[in-house]
Amino acid sequence: MKEIYYRMYQSVFRLISYLLPWKEPIVYSGEEATHQLIDHLVKRSNRRVLFVCDPTIIKLQLHQPLLKQLNDKGFHIEVFDRLQPNPTLASIEDGANTFQQENCDMMIAMGGGSAIDCAKGIGVKIARPKTTFSNMKGVIKVLKKIPYLVAIPTTAGTGSEATIATVVTDEVTHEKYAISDPVLLPKVAVLNPQYTVSLPPFFTATTALDALTHAIEAYIGRSNTQKTKEEAILAIQLIFEYLPVILEHPNDLKAREQLQIAAYKAGRAFTRAYVGYIHAIAHTLGGQYSVPHGLANAIVMPVVLSYYGDSIVQPCADIARAVFKGTANQSDETLSQQLIRHIQYLNQLADIPTTVAQLHCEDIDLLASRALKEANPLYPVPKILHLNDLQNIYSSLLVK
Ligand SMILES: [Fe+2]
Repeated sequence: MKEIYYRMYQSVFRLISYLLPWKEPIVYSGEEATHQLIDHLVKRSNRRVLFVCDPTIIKLQLHQPLLKQLNDKGFHIEVFDRLQPNPTLASIEDGANTFQQENCDMMIAMGGGSAIDCAKGIGVKIARPKTTFSNMKGVIKVLKKIPYLVAIPTTAGTGSEATIATVVTDEVTHEKYAISDPVLLPKVAVLNPQYTVSLPPFFTATTALDALTHAIEAYIGRSNTQKTKEEAILAIQLIFEYLPVILEHPNDLKAREQLQIAAYKAGRAFTRAYVGYIHAIAHTLGGQYSVPHGLANAIVMPVVLSYYGDSIVQPCADIARAVFKGTANQSDETLSQQLIRHIQYLNQLADIPTTVAQLHCEDIDLLASRALKEANPLYPVPKILHLNDLQNIYSSLLVK
């Protein structure tokens, strides 16, 4: 009975999503992307920028050339770098206060998903100062324009520059949840591979594996469209091809540019077609133990894909046919297994563990119920799982 309700709920959202304005940000990509951004911004009237960034950006001085050029063009810039790895409600509030005190009229977010999500959260707070974040949890509840937002990712993974979602953490309850609304889509995405070069190999891998999870969950879910399937396939192809290249040659800018495109495309795919249980579980591990999002996804992905069993053989075989050579005479079952094995191979290549060191047996019930609450009924997953399924999955993630 529950399953029928979940599927009906998802059908309603699928219908609603056909009516939403699925805009795309202006995308500047390649090594000239930052100059193109500046040319774009000087034509606009906004001049007071809240520059939201990870503290590591300041440490590496990645922001300096951009900020200097904007200063020279007459922009007032207030740097806000007091954000947490998974943006907390307190840091969002702090950022929103700074935005108002400095009379800002736009934001530039530079960094990983946390910086971009924090800026989106600040935007939500500015647009809806009186509504609590927990009341806007879920889909299309902001419903009010946020300040003009430019996203400059320095990882190739979260795809936040392409999505209508922000993921925030309630530092009091340790709950991590998403707020999704088309108003949160950045107006401009700058994909400059030079910004990702300083990212160490392990983080390059975990963030890319986050993007891979977006593409895979978007493809195997039931709310995909022809367009999201194409975007997901392209992202998977690019990650399979270029992640190993970058792990071998971290300074290969061409490969890094392709990985940024993959992350962007995967972001496009999942913001329309949703994610699934892999993300729901990863969010609980991030919220409870601060396991970095990409790492959590990378560990959980092969476990959940294997648990889905027959329900994903067809879509996984379709992906395998699109991305692997010599698949003509292979059965769907073989190809589906080949895809999961390839993901495990990438995990090994990137030194991703197969278990979650911080996970405690006594937390499993709480985490499983949280993951279930996030995924059901919203996520159009290929197979509805129940509490005992989630408990089994968490148990298999315990260090043996
Ligand atoms: Fe993700």
